[in-house]
Amino acid sequence: KKDWILMVTAQSPTNIAVIKYWGKRDETLILPINDSISVTLDPNHLCTTTTVAVSPSFDSDQMWLNGKEISLSGSRYQSCLREIRSRANDVEDEEKGIFIKKEDWENLHLHIASFNNFPTAAGLASSAAGFACLVYSLAKLMNVKEEQGKLSAIARQGSGSACRSLFGGFVKWAMGNVRLISKDTNGSDSIAVQLANEMHWDDLVIIIAVVSSRQKETSSTTGMRESVETSPLLHYRSKEVVPKRILQMEEAIKTRDFTSFASLACADSNQFHAVCLDTSPPIFYMNDTSHRQVLFSCLQDGSQLLIINYMEKWNRFEAMPQVAYTFDAGPNAVLIAPNRKVATLLIQRLLFYFPPSSDTELSSFVLGDKSILK
Ligand code: PMV
Repeated sequence: KKDWILMVTAQSPTNIAVIKYWGKRDETLILPINDSISVTLDPNHLCTTTTVAVSPSFDSDQMWLNGKEISLSGSRYQSCLREIRSRANDVEDEEKGIFIKKEDWENLHLHIASFNNFPTAAGLASSAAGFACLVYSLAKLMNVKEEQGKLSAIARQGSGSACRSLFGGFVKWAMGNVRLISKDTNGSDSIAVQLANEMHWDDLVIIIAVVSSRQKETSSTTGMRESVETSPLLHYRSKEVVPKRILQMEEAIKTRDFTSFASLACADSNQFHAVCLDTSPPIFYMNDTSHRQVLFSCLQDGSQLLIINYMEKWNRFEAMPQVAYTFDAGPNAVLIAPNRKVATLLIQRLLFYFPPSSDTELSSFVLGDKSILK
């Protein structure tokens, strides 16, 4: 009988790093040169929804992203598919009278449909949500029994930051032991661990100002490679700066110390962009918006720098940090307020000083499940 189909649908949120991952020590296994820490967003907002289906009537693995077919031949997809298939187990669906033996998975093909409810590849970690969701839904479909940490090491091979999206709340991606040659461990010790769940500090409000939904010009893969090869600052950062910051950030999260959390997050974002400038040729993720449609329509260029300036002034005026900012490999601003009161004020000020144009968005997210702006 060839007419049956079995499906699983899953949703994964994206995550925003507050201590950044930038630079790989192994490009195939995607092993980083430093630990990183992120906050996973509320799954009701920026997320990927993926349906994976298996049927004996499918004759090849195929995938559609936002309704368009994409190739699965790249090594990242192949690694994830191979790793999950090798851990597949028997699956039985009594109602439909389906029984798939463990060894059958090697010969069965998959159809995968994935949707992002936010701009793809615009520095909003779309690949993080995407690969986390792919790995999770495939693991469910194939009855893979590995714990979440092990699954994170598989998602990592799709996109580094994806390993952190397998957990909610505050997540650390431990780089793994550099002294072991990667072939010995296969990178299995480079996994994500949850530092605290989403209820631990649910006063925090995360606001994402989508400055541009255009795709970034330098992919993170190329950018990281060039930084590793040419930026002395990156090597200083990964050895001398990040290890201390990771400990301080873990403490700030544990004790819900917003002052320390904000100053570490801002400093780390700024250092990451300094590394980009220290790369040859330099990478400009923050002010390359001049040819783009800009959210903050009164400012045609460099609005990110003005946002930073504005936030720094506000924080200094109040004598302690009110708002943290962080920018990934794209122009969109991620602002983190300590509570809903400050978040409301922040949104009012943003709308006042940087009024959005018609094709822009200003979204807010709260850890947990409450939203200020709909
Ligand atoms: O996982 P990638 O290849 O999309 O790299 C993400 C890099 C940053 O977003 C800039 C930082 C991070 O830690 O997420």
